[in-house]
Amino acid sequence: MKFIFELSKEHKTLPAAEILACLRAEKINYKVIESNEDVLVVDTDVKESNIKKLASRLSLTFYIDEMLFSCPPSTIEIKKYAIENHIKKNGSIAIRCKNRSNTIDSRPIVQTLADIYSKERRVTLENPDIEVRGLITNSTAYIGLKVSEVNRSYFENRKAQHRPFFSPISLHPKLARVMVNLSAIKKGETLLDPFCGTGGILIEAGLIGARVIGSDIEDKMVEGCKKNLDFYDITDYELFCSDIGDIAKHAAEIDAVVTDFPYGKATTTKGEDIRKLYERAFENISCVLKENGRAVIGLSNKDMLPLGEKYFSLVEKHGFRAHRSLTRYFAVFQK
Ligand SMILES: C[S@@+](CC[C@H](N)C(=O)[O-])C[C@H]1O[C@@H](n2cnc3c(N)ncnc32)[C@H](O)[C@@H]1O
Repeated sequence: MKFIFELSKEHKTLPAAEILACLRAEKINYKVIESNEDVLVVDTDVKESNIKKLASRLSLTFYIDEMLFSCPPSTIEIKKYAIENHIKKNGSIAIRCKNRSNTIDSRPIVQTLADIYSKERRVTLENPDIEVRGLITNSTAYIGLKVSEVNRSYFENRKAQHRPFFSPISLHPKLARVMVNLSAIKKGETLLDPFCGTGGILIEAGLIGARVIGSDIEDKMVEGCKKNLDFYDITDYELFCSDIGDIAKHAAEIDAVVTDFPYGKATTTKGEDIRKLYERAFENISCVLKENGRAVIGLSNKDMLPLGEKYFSLVEKHGFRAHRSLTRYFAVFQK
């Protein structure tokens, strides 16, 4: 069965990379049929319930649809393909289109789909049994049946200012969730953030069912992080105050490390030269991480990547502008 992941387009590479890491985490075999900035289409023999489970952990996808067909975005082509691709399920129907093209009018497309698919069915926009979704780009119409919608408002509701302990150093929850997902952590496995700060990464990992361990050099961060984890009813956690150099005294055989390194402006390095701190950090993370485990690291300077490559192989890296003067990188390493 083929599935269309409708990507949020908030970044060129992260939305698809997040999905592929989650498929790996959930042990779902797949073949990529098509990958571009708008969609990822995969072929897999997985059940619909597992796809729904996937939707509950993704952050940069809008919808997941079972694919009916894709074709050039003209009504003639869409009519031809829709006639060939029946909907087997019974029940009421809604037809919805997301138009991402700047040249195509999607109304005749919706009408064409409605003429074919709503015959002998009740049309309703409220809780239909079947939702046909069209995603229209300049080159392609992707038509499918909605399986799941990613609830993105949860991420907005968890922004740093809504937590009991606030600091602007914390990443947006959507980005923290992406980092967690890139680590391919599974429910019940252990994830460590050794620069945990206010706990933004640990919250996202805890919410997908990972056991979380956090540490920070600042006592006040550890105390604040505890308040934040308690606020989101995360119970399976361990926190301690430690310099990065001492984490092996507290943790071992960790399944994944996900962390945002201090970058010395808003987030303190306690006066330590950043290169020295990062060298120590990579070395100590490699000591506590399991063989083949992934370390997902947030960096503000890509020249620091070779420091990590001394201990790990670099799987992928994603750069993005955090604001005008700051480009951040998420690097995925494997031990
Ligand atoms: C970028 S912030 C982490 C933000 C965090 N992800 C959050 O959601 O709040 C980096 C953290 O590293 C901590 N830190 C700085 N130097 C450290 C060191 N040598 N060992 C451990 N933690 C350190 C800082 O106190 C800070 O909280």
